[in-house]
Amino acid sequence: MKLMVSHHDIVFHTVSIVRRAFASFKYRTGTEAFFDYARDSYVKQRQLFEARRWGVTPPPRHLQERIVAGYFPRYIASGRQIAKEILSLAPGTKQSVLDFGCGSGRVAVPVSKFLPNSSICATDIDPEAIDWCRNHIAGVEFDVNSHNPPTRYPSGSFDLIYAVSVFTHLPEKMQREWLEELRRICCGYLVLSIHGQRHHKHIPPAVVPEFLKRGFYYLRSGTTDGLPDFYQSTFQTHDYIRSEWGKFFDIMEIKERAIGWGNHDAVVCKVR
Ligand SMILES: C[S@@+](CC[C@H](N)C(=O)[O-])C[C@H]1O[C@@H](n2cnc3c(N)ncnc32)[C@H](O)[C@@H]1O
Repeated sequence: MKLMVSHHDIVFHTVSIVRRAFASFKYRTGTEAFFDYARDSYVKQRQLFEARRWGVTPPPRHLQERIVAGYFPRYIASGRQIAKEILSLAPGTKQSVLDFGCGSGRVAVPVSKFLPNSSICATDIDPEAIDWCRNHIAGVEFDVNSHNPPTRYPSGSFDLIYAVSVFTHLPEKMQREWLEELRRICCGYLVLSIHGQRHHKHIPPAVVPEFLKRGFYYLRSGTTDGLPDFYQSTFQTHDYIRSEWGKFFDIMEIKERAIGWGNHDAVVCKVR
């Protein structure tokens, strides 16, 4: 019998076990506050080191936590990594690029540095994040969009649109409306991230059969501070993407674990 355990699973489970053991140690020895302070200081220094290295400014902690659900030493490095992944997945020219759901510009900043001669736009529903971006990031044109389409962009504005961890949070009807809008404003390719199989463990076991049959599940798991109530967790199978997203685009490729050091799957689409 073939053992279906990947390298990612082994690393993930080992890290979880070590984390739990360490949390228990801190609790038993009453040293939580000390270790939390030490970790936060390390994260801050590490981010400042990377920020100086790449000539960028880290967003305030609460804006980082809003989009990556934590305060991590490699926040800036993750943006560079994802930018490289997106640009290598996307075929075609990249003269006009849109980051849809850009948050605090984690990916838009390195994309603009990798493509210094392109026009880079970035948009999000979060006015606080966009306000911070406008005041701290040069070389990207930022916008706030409404929860529902349309955007202000004319038809066929972009030869590349990407969305990192956005469709992973939208309900089905909203996904369809945004796919329609992205099709309108794109004249080339799109790279959209989705929760792949490694995230399916978060689906409650009782609804897994329904999920596998429908290929789509929208999990209400609480709200994120600063974001609207609809912002939850969405899971979809590759078959669902091919049949449903295939109504809007040619699905060129669905690449497993292609985004964020193996975190999300990438759907590469082409406007017909
Ligand atoms: C997990 S964060 C990812 C942010 C950014 N793409 C990154 O990787 O750093 C998801 C982002 O999607 C944005 N978002 C959610 N619904 C949106 C919508 N309908 N239009 C634009 N942005 C949206 C949220 O405000 C949030 O900033």
